[in-house]
Order: sequence, then structure tokens, then C-alpha cells
Amino acid sequence: MSDLTDDIIELLISTAHGMQQRSYAPYSAFNVGAALLSKSGKIYGGCNIENAAYSPSNCAERTAIFKAVSEGEREFRAIAIVGGKKGETGDLCFPCGVCRQVMAEFCDPDTFKIIMRDSGGQTVIKSLRDLLPEAFRL
Ligand code: THU
Repeated sequence: MSDLTDDIIELLISTAHGMQQRSYAPYSAFNVGAALLSKSGKIYGGCNIENAAYSPSNCAERTAIFKAVSEGEREFRAIAIVGGKKGETGDLCFPCGVCRQVMAEFCDPDTFKIIMRDSGGQTVIKSLRDLLPEAFRL
């Protein structure tokens, strides 16, 4: 299903858990962490960052992608995502539709992998095409 090694998957998930602790989510109390692996081999972390005006809030996945792109990265292999209430890991945290669309801007739909793990240790890996078929592109 994935050309990622188990070691890389575990590193991405543990990085995402660390990022979840940096989440700033006083309004939803739902904390999300993400870890994005670039084709250059670097890992970019991200967390959700909320705002009192709500709409300026940013998801963990987009934080990671925007950090990476702003550092000159354009090609990515995978992203790990964990999330849950009050800093705990809960159910599998699937990316929202907006984040899927942002992934589609930079990531190959068939080779880019989205890795999620829940509190029970279940790991699910999906391709971007699985989660966003027929993506809009110009
Ligand atoms: N959130 C993420 O950061 N990533 C997701 O994939 C789903 C939702 C954030 C947005 C908001 O800060 C909080 O989780 C509740 O929706």
C-alpha cells in the first residue's frame, strides 16, 4: 500500500504527536498535530492555530504545508495526522476538505500518502486520490 518504511511512518506519527502539544485551540479544544515529509527528506511539523474571529484559524495540515512551501519545498511524500479533544489522541483524524484541496495543489494524488492513527493504535494510510477524487485543478 505504501512505499514508506515502518520507521518513517513511526517517525512521522511521533512528530505529529509532538506537534499536537503545540496546538493553539482555545475555542474548539480540539488539538491536531501534523508531520509532513518532503521528497528532500525533511519533516515539517504543523498544528492547528485558532483565532477569536474563527475564520482566520488554520488547520495543522495547512500549517505544515505552508511552512514547507515557504521554505522552498514543492514536492511531498506523506503527511501524518493525529488529533483529539484536550490534547489527547482520539478517533482517526481525517483532513478537512480545505486541507485536501491544498494537498492537491502540491502533491501527486496517487503517491502522496495520508497517515492517520487513533488512540487505539490503529493506523490508516490513504492516498490523496482516495480522499479527494476528481480534484479541481487549473
Ligand atoms: N482541524 C485540523 O487542524 N485538521 C483537521 O484535519 C480537522 C480540523 C482543526 C481545525 C480547528 O482548529 C479544530 O481542528 C476543530 O475543527
